[in-house]
Amino acid sequence: MSATWHPAGSLAELTEDQPLTASVAGKEIGVYKVAGAYYALEDVCPHAHALLSQGFVEGDEIECPLHGAKFHIPTGRCTKEPGGRDLRSYPVRVEGDTVLVALD
Ligand code: FES
Repeated sequence: MSATWHPAGSLAELTEDQPLTASVAGKEIGVYKVAGAYYALEDVCPHAHALLSQGFVEGDEIECPLHGAKFHIPTGRCTKEPGGRDLRSYPVRVEGDTVLVALD
């Protein structure tokens, strides 16, 4: 089955320092740019309710704004507690000025 791509936002809103906070088909998704590549991760921190894309980018990691858990952006792996578990990651592609994410 081929993936369904959903628009997540405009490329102009996404920089290496500033992830994109998106609501895609009812799901909160954070879109990141690291070393020129794009990544999409589930955005609600598994520890409590914070949006990770509103946190702090440090190299290839995102730090939760609430209690400081860290996740590796390219893989979603939890690298510092209290994240609790790894994040789900989703395929991303760019078409023109639009960032697209596949959720299935
Ligand atoms: S809500 Fe993210 S570390 Fe607590």
